[in-house]
Amino acid sequence: MLERLQKILSQAGVASRRESEGIIAAGRVAVNGTVVTELGTKADPDTDTITLDGKPITIEEKRVYILLYKPVGYMTTMKDPEGRPIVSDLLNGVKERVYPIGRLDYNTEGLLLLTNDGALANSLMHPSHEVDKGYLVRVSGQVSPLQIKKLSEGVKLEDGMTAPAKVLPVSESENNSWISITIHEGRYRQVRRMCEAVGLNVVRLKRARYDFLEIGDMKPGEYRHLAPEEVTRLNRKMAPVGTGRGPRKTGVVARRGSTGTGRRTR
Ligand code: URA
Repeated sequence: MLERLQKILSQAGVASRRESEGIIAAGRVAVNGTVVTELGTKADPDTDTITLDGKPITIEEKRVYILLYKPVGYMTTMKDPEGRPIVSDLLNGVKERVYPIGRLDYNTEGLLLLTNDGALANSLMHPSHEVDKGYLVRVSGQVSPLQIKKLSEGVKLEDGMTAPAKVLPVSESENNSWISITIHEGRYRQVRRMCEAVGLNVVRLKRARYDFLEIGDMKPGEYRHLAPEEVTRLNRKMAPVGTGRGPRKTGVVARRGSTGTGRRTR
């Protein structure tokens, strides 16, 4: 986003906005190699190289952690070439650039975490951390004990066997049944493909839980910021033993552009 240079300098902690004006006027600031002295000149700190006395400046950004109820009909990407709605459209009021932690299909609803904390996002998505994801699945007709057993033990998909899952019947009516499936893998359309593999037709899929975080009675499109204790708890779980990467506090800063959450899980 284009911003006035004096604002960018003050956000980078160089000086106050007023003092930054003096610094600019003195010819100490360059944008993409060209010295700028005119006050009010704009630049984009994400794409332009801004230097002070020849050294690049970096902007620090507050870390934010958001739990969104992703509705059906939204893409979990930051852009959609087909122009479909994207999850960030729902985050009015969040000015930081946040990225989804993992993906939910266009037709899947439920709990989606978003953050600009690339280190935590990458940890949570790393298969070695085996974060439990709990889904509620509505399928056509009835579910047999054999289907539950097969889903629980692991089913053969094109990309290999699925790991054992926790699968429980939830409710049943004449035309539909709800089951809950908890997996720790994050393969492309995994729950849908598991159900198909045992002959179940998924009519609704909702992620209700991500590790200890639950969607509860939130409504589609609603979001909330995680409480500091929740962030601490996630960090504590993710801290690899012996690395000294202990729990962190919210409100600390992340370097803009440090979120490396481009990994495609779905
Ligand atoms: N499994 C799926 O099939 N889809 C999702 O969106 C999430 C898990």
